[in-house]
Amino acid sequence: MRYEPRPFFEFETMTERWTPSTWRSKPAKHMPTDYPDAAVVTRVEDELRRMPPLVFAGEARRLKSLLGDVARGDAFLLQGGDCAESFKEFHADNIRDTFRLILQMAVVLTFSGGKPVVKVGRIAGQFAKPRSEPVETIDGVTLPSYRGDNINGMAFEAGERTPDPERLLKAYAQSSATLNLLRAFAQGGYADLHNIHRWTLGFVADSPQGARYRELSDKISESLAFMAAIGVTPESHPGMRQVEFFTSHEALLLGYEEAMTRIDSTSGDWYDTSAHMLWIGERTRQLDGAHVEFMRGVKNPIGVKVGPTLEPDDLLRLIDVLNPANEPGRLTLIGRFGADKVAERLPRLMQATRRAGRSVIWSTDPMHGNTLKAATGYKTRPFDRILAEVKAFVDVAEAEGVHPGGVHLEMTGQNVTECIGGARALAEGDLADRYHTHCDPRLNGEQALELAFLVAERLKSGRERMREAG
Ligand code: PEP
Ligand code: CO
Repeated sequence: MRYEPRPFFEFETMTERWTPSTWRSKPAKHMPTDYPDAAVVTRVEDELRRMPPLVFAGEARRLKSLLGDVARGDAFLLQGGDCAESFKEFHADNIRDTFRLILQMAVVLTFSGGKPVVKVGRIAGQFAKPRSEPVETIDGVTLPSYRGDNINGMAFEAGERTPDPERLLKAYAQSSATLNLLRAFAQGGYADLHNIHRWTLGFVADSPQGARYRELSDKISESLAFMAAIGVTPESHPGMRQVEFFTSHEALLLGYEEAMTRIDSTSGDWYDTSAHMLWIGERTRQLDGAHVEFMRGVKNPIGVKVGPTLEPDDLLRLIDVLNPANEPGRLTLIGRFGADKVAERLPRLMQATRRAGRSVIWSTDPMHGNTLKAATGYKTRPFDRILAEVKAFVDVAEAEGVHPGGVHLEMTGQNVTECIGGARALAEGDLADRYHTHCDPRLNGEQALELAFLVAERLKSGRERMREAG
């Protein structure tokens, strides 16, 4: 099959007028419809509309421009954080640990990859979850499923599971405090490369990954000493003290996203100020659905999860709607196929975007297609399968002449036991030790760093092969 370039604006939806509320007339999946009192929802949304923006439009534009470099093959996107943030795990230490894990992984990827790494957290707003089952039954009692702390509570109890709109205000406040701390970490000196040895997470220090990281950071420290000797210091180059760090979450609760969407006074465009980047989940990417309708109108950089059921033509239609101007950095396609399906499903999708000349970033989420239930009942993900999906993604991208542009991970700086495998060979029997996630199993700090080293090696060997092939 051939995919001829097609004219933009082929689809009816694209020419229709857009406002932050036009999604309300479209079918919306995975949004709570069972709030006990709709008037309270409206009151909360009005309150949110008066809250200050969490991010500025100019910052979202900056991220879009960095992602434009990724789209052109000149940079790499590292996106990661909790599956779901929670009120219970909200703590400065957790935020710091996720932040420094991302810094460490970025150092590893930059050093071997030789390209800048764009750092985006799944953080400061990643609360709402689409669930496969709307209800949960335990011992004959059936209650609504847990849907994320900004909707209802996790405890299996009728009151907790009833959606409560006031939770949106608490989630906004937590996002705001989280972002405040992240800005301080990114700009206040903590992220200065001279602190590279201090970023090591306590429990990772005495692991094989810790040793490899120490070796790498020693080399970087040597280079910094050399640069200082020739006069390049944080004093002469204040940018050395800072990193650019961005936030993202799944734009699932459109009432919240609408309330946070404002006109930017500089450009006159609409921006969703709840995060720098937003994405549409695998379960809400219907072309005629509410989520696609909302996201087509905001100017932030956006993502779409792309799973094994998506056909090339439908992908091109989605791209036409979400990135009609073919702007580099606007749209990231986040593949989440599963290690067993990626080699079969991904090539034709990559061929479609390449042949149709669509500027997109291809990133891989090796988490959501590789979840299984352990004999003990815990949801888990085998490290080997996660790694296998990333490797297959890079293989396919290289074969199709597409830049393997990024990874999207569920991970935490905490020493949890949620995914099996990795250098320490975490076994199913270990899952009960520290299984803290509020939704899907995350890589712990050591596993995430190990993955970064393996991905970096794979990217490097691919580039060397290409260079040799001329
Ligand atoms: C997620 O990223 O947490 C998620 C639900 O992913 P997906 O939409 O790919 O299933
Ligand atoms: Co998840």
